[in-house]
Amino acid sequence: MKLAGKTVVVVGGGSGIGLAVAEAAYGAGASLVAIAGRSPEKLESAKAGIGGGARAFPVDVSDEGSVRALFEKFDRLDHLVVTAAETMASDISGSDAEGLRPTLDTRVWGGYFAAKHAAPRMGDGASMTFVSGMSSRRPYVGSSVISASCGAIEAMSRALALELAPIRVNTIRPGIVETPLLDGFYGEGREEFLENLATRLPVGRVGRPEDIADAAMFLMGNGFVSGSVLQIDGGASLV
Ligand SMILES: NC(=O)c1ccc[n+]([C@@H]2O[C@H](COP(=O)([O-])OP(=O)(O)OC[C@H]3O[C@@H](n4cnc5c(N)ncnc54)[C@H](OP(=O)(O)O)[C@@H]3O)[C@@H](O)[C@H]2O)c1
Repeated sequence: MKLAGKTVVVVGGGSGIGLAVAEAAYGAGASLVAIAGRSPEKLESAKAGIGGGARAFPVDVSDEGSVRALFEKFDRLDHLVVTAAETMASDISGSDAEGLRPTLDTRVWGGYFAAKHAAPRMGDGASMTFVSGMSSRRPYVGSSVISASCGAIEAMSRALALELAPIRVNTIRPGIVETPLLDGFYGEGREEFLENLATRLPVGRVGRPEDIADAAMFLMGNGFVSGSVLQIDGGASLV
């Protein structure tokens, strides 16, 4: 019951990694687990799955007013985890800036707004955890804006670890994790892609949302970690 009595807010908690973090926080005894996202249906179904201590709130992280309104609902919170992001890959030739903008608006500005409005409500032992992606280090063709967003959140979280201290601020850099996000990326080729990837990874499988939630729980609980980027990738960076 490491989180007994704590309030944990997971922005992006309606699915995938965020939902696994919310479930883990609830399992660790948090007295309030709040999940936030845009889709009410997704949030309701996630809340029902998590259990009694969960509450769900609407938010669009790219809109500062919406993020402010979310955090005004809390007198205090102990741990913030932000997984919400849109990710749009596109070659630069023929790219559409307006279509790509949400990738930066959500991960970078969304993270910034969440930190800004959560921090005044956080006290002793508090932490913030953001999520980047391997493309900050290992880009692929078409990832320029995604890579920029991932690099930016890693750099920003280190700066915030200084500015918001003693609140601890860290980032998780996941490898490929089986979540609904992959549907948009790989469509019908998803299963084949994941099977091929699994055979190439040192751990012999792709990531599960629980793998990343485990890292988020570590970052919430370890009072000596701040300004870190924790890579959880199944050894992908080695191959
Ligand atoms: N899965 C992977 O392989 C992988 C790898 C590296 C990094 N990541 C990163 O991990 C994070 C979580 O992704 P995931 O894999 O768990 O995908 P996911 O299941 O699609 O979760 C993303 C969540 O973000 C929410 N969201 C998106 N835009 C939002 C906005 N403007 N305002 C509020 N909420 C918003 C979505 O809910 P609504 O649509 O309801 O708003 C959704 O619940 C993302 O930052 C992703 O880039 C994932």
